[in-house]
This record gives sequence, C-alpha cells and structure tokens, in this order.
Amino acid sequence: MKRLFFALWPEQTTRQSCITLISQLPNAGRPVSARNLHITLLFLGSVDSSQQALISQEAGKLPISPITITFDRLSFWKKPGVLCLTAGQTDRNITQLNNALTSIAKQHGILVDERPFTPHVTLMKKARTEADIAISPILWRAHGFCLAESISTAAGVEYRIIERWPKTDPLNPHLEN
Ligand code: 2AM
Repeated sequence: MKRLFFALWPEQTTRQSCITLISQLPNAGRPVSARNLHITLLFLGSVDSSQQALISQEAGKLPISPITITFDRLSFWKKPGVLCLTAGQTDRNITQLNNALTSIAKQHGILVDERPFTPHVTLMKKARTEADIAISPILWRAHGFCLAESISTAAGVEYRIIERWPKTDPLNPHLEN
C-alpha cells in the first residue's frame, strides 16, 4: 500500500517566493522543505496498486484547465498546527478539479475528507503561534497536476511525484522531483 495524494507542484519562481517567505517565519516549528512544497488537491491515504491503477487511469482522462491562485494571506491553523498560505479568492478550476478527483476516489472505495476544500500551501508544521508578518502575494499557476507519494524516511517525510498529467508540465518542463 502506498500513501498517495493528488497535488499541484510549484513553478520555480513560486517555489522560490515560498522559500523566501519561510525564511522570514518565526523559528518555532518545522519548515516544509523546498522539494515538498505543494498544494494538496485531494489526500487519498493508503491505496493498493490495483486501486492506484484505476484511479490514475480515470484521473488521466480529466480535462486540464489552467489554474491561477494569488496566495495573499498567511494563516495559522491551530488544530493541525500549521502556518500556510491561503487565498482570499479561489479559482473555480481548482475546485472543479478537486470535485472531479473526489468523485473518482469515491468510486474506487476511498474515504475522502468531506470538509470543504480550501486550497493552501503548508509552509510550517508543528507551528504554535500566528506569524505576525506582512506578506507579498505569491502567484501560483498550474497547467497540470500530479499524483504524489508520501514516504517516511530517516530524514523526515518526503513527497515524490509518481505520475503527472500532462506528462510534461508546460509551465515547468524541467521540474524534477
Ligand atoms: P497539507 O496539504 O495540508 O500540507 C501528504 O500527506 C499531504 O496531504 C500533506 O501535505 C497533507 O497536508 C495532505 N493531507 C490532507 N489530509 C491529510 C490527512 N488526513 N493525513 C495526512 N495528510 C493529509
């Protein structure tokens, strides 16, 4: 079984803006590493290989619409203990993609989070307080999405892209992960 999730990975400039912001955050917490920065579209949890193949096949048939989000808020979510970027306005294409992936996952027996989808970028885990700093808005553009695996390593959790639609991201043709 693999621990899987659908996600958007950042372009290089967006990733760099997030890294700069992380470096300005108070030092209480665990910063997300540059390679792990992403927007979760849908967390699947433990998935077996036959479920994975069927879900991937269906996900690969979805239309791909461009997504643009301006993250203009730094939010502190007390319960999970995270500092994350959130957006005052969302893009309906990301909501539609979340809906479509949710319906595919449910059809294949995955129990999904039923809470409303809030696009966010986790910057700091194990955070205990708000970060009272002004932020410059961070633009996140995507023209494709990924299936990623969460892997526990001795050095901490690592997120690895295992499949990408389209196969080459037009905004990020050289991205490796
Ligand atoms: P995040 O998107 O808020 O950072 C892989 O575990 C990713 O899926 C994480 O980045 C995590 O949070 C997101 N995720 C969403 N729901 C989760 C859950 N119930 N358990 C673990 N991760 C979850």
